[in-house]
Amino acid sequence: MISVRLDRLLANMGYGSRREIAALAAAGQVVLDGQAIRKADTKVLVARDLPARMTVRGAPLDPPPGLALMLHKPLGVTCSHKEVGALVYDLLPQRWKAREPAISTVGRLDKETSGLLLLTDDGELLHRIISPRSNVPKRYLVTLARPMDGTEGAAFAAGTLVLEGEDKPLLPAELEVHSPTQAHLTIHEGRYHQVRRMFAAVGNHVEALHRDQVGGLDLPADLAPGAFRMLDDAAIAAIFTPR
Ligand code: URA
Repeated sequence: MISVRLDRLLANMGYGSRREIAALAAAGQVVLDGQAIRKADTKVLVARDLPARMTVRGAPLDPPPGLALMLHKPLGVTCSHKEVGALVYDLLPQRWKAREPAISTVGRLDKETSGLLLLTDDGELLHRIISPRSNVPKRYLVTLARPMDGTEGAAFAAGTLVLEGEDKPLLPAELEVHSPTQAHLTIHEGRYHQVRRMFAAVGNHVEALHRDQVGGLDLPADLAPGAFRMLDDAAIAAIFTPR
């Protein structure tokens, strides 16, 4: 665990400039373990349990750096820090946009894809999840424009399918058919528009796409579109423990 100056910690968590934090502290608005910390240069041990022990303006401290969360991405929002229109970051508290290190999505979902999206400010964790070596599978519920013809599962499982404009074959993927126009597809890499392009490669068209699982982590049924939830150690471990 590291200890940092109070003003630096809170400024990096988006609570204001260091000068503003100093004023806030001097006013008794930063309380740790029941005691006001009035000096901005007080060193604070950055621990996971800080939100349970510290309040700022009477409210529990936000999760300190090293956070990971899952978001139920709704349709129509973009996984980008800077594009025009609605962004996934707009679904998080406004203050979090000023956090340093910044919170980023772990990979991306298309604007018109919904479902389980992970976000973190922990670069090491992010890379561990997206690294091919970790082999974290991603499962999508796919709704198709036309009935499948029964050959798709074998085509996707073969490990020989080459997407339009590429020359490296895709890794084998698993298809679980639920109805002529609905299936789960589990993929083990994350190429651009991969699921849509896989179905295009077999002559179909994806009408709706929803990710419901990343590794062994499910999108909870009670997490509404647009809502998010912090991940604890067990949930992070589940990502790397596919079922
Ligand atoms: N494949 C796609 O085509 N789109 C996504 O958003 C994710 C996987």
